[in-house]
Amino acid sequence: MARRSFVAGNWKMHKTVGEATAIARELRGLVSQLRDRVEIAIAPPFTALHAVAKALEDSNVAVAAQNCHAEVQGAFTGEVSAPMCAEAGCRYVILGHSERRQLFGETDVGVNSKVKAVLAAKLLPIICVGETLAEREAGKTLEIVSAQVRGCLNGFSAEQGKSFVLAYEPVWAIGTGKTATSKQAQEVHAHIRGLLTAQWGEGVAQAVRIQYGGSVKPENAQELLSQPDIDGALVGGASLKAADFAAIVKAAPGA
Ligand code: PGA
Repeated sequence: MARRSFVAGNWKMHKTVGEATAIARELRGLVSQLRDRVEIAIAPPFTALHAVAKALEDSNVAVAAQNCHAEVQGAFTGEVSAPMCAEAGCRYVILGHSERRQLFGETDVGVNSKVKAVLAAKLLPIICVGETLAEREAGKTLEIVSAQVRGCLNGFSAEQGKSFVLAYEPVWAIGTGKTATSKQAQEVHAHIRGLLTAQWGEGVAQAVRIQYGGSVKPENAQELLSQPDIDGALVGGASLKAADFAAIVKAAPGA
């Protein structure tokens, strides 16, 4: 059950090409000694993907896109496809982030199609799920997260699933400074692993990494990342500074 910790930084709509490459170079230096110990990725905006991938060539920091379209190409103004992300130097694509769901109308069915596109482009998905505050207060957390996980993963085989990464991000903890307690997060992570076991069996469920996201900072990372079913973090705000992000990476078990 030795899952390698995976810490990813989601930069959202922040950083110009110049700023992004500067942070990427700084980060590269700060985490170079962690090669083979912790998996690391950063997700800059589309405009900076290629330049950041170049700046990170032969390093132990991978590049992720924050979204992609389900089609390979076509008349989809403003969209970017999975093969385009692959060509720009990405290894991962974040899918179904709560901001995509809340602000851009993404659904589990839509995420499911995008996962197919990501796999077809030989990329790996980081699939985000999480409940809103109203859902948590109504006692519906596990029900909501179950529906999201089932919907996003529907139809994928164990062989495909073993390379997936999931991220549990309670919506009320994103960008709010309110972190889930390690106990709250662990409860949901264990539940998600149970869903993976039901779909793909114990072996695959034990291999899949489940990241926690929502106000992860250097100060709270170790406590969260030491939980048995928390296998890394998806970091927003604190990933915009190389030193803070590196400190979170170094708090991961195995670092
Ligand atoms: P945050 O964002 O760390 O700023 O809360 C996390 C995310 O949205 O992935």
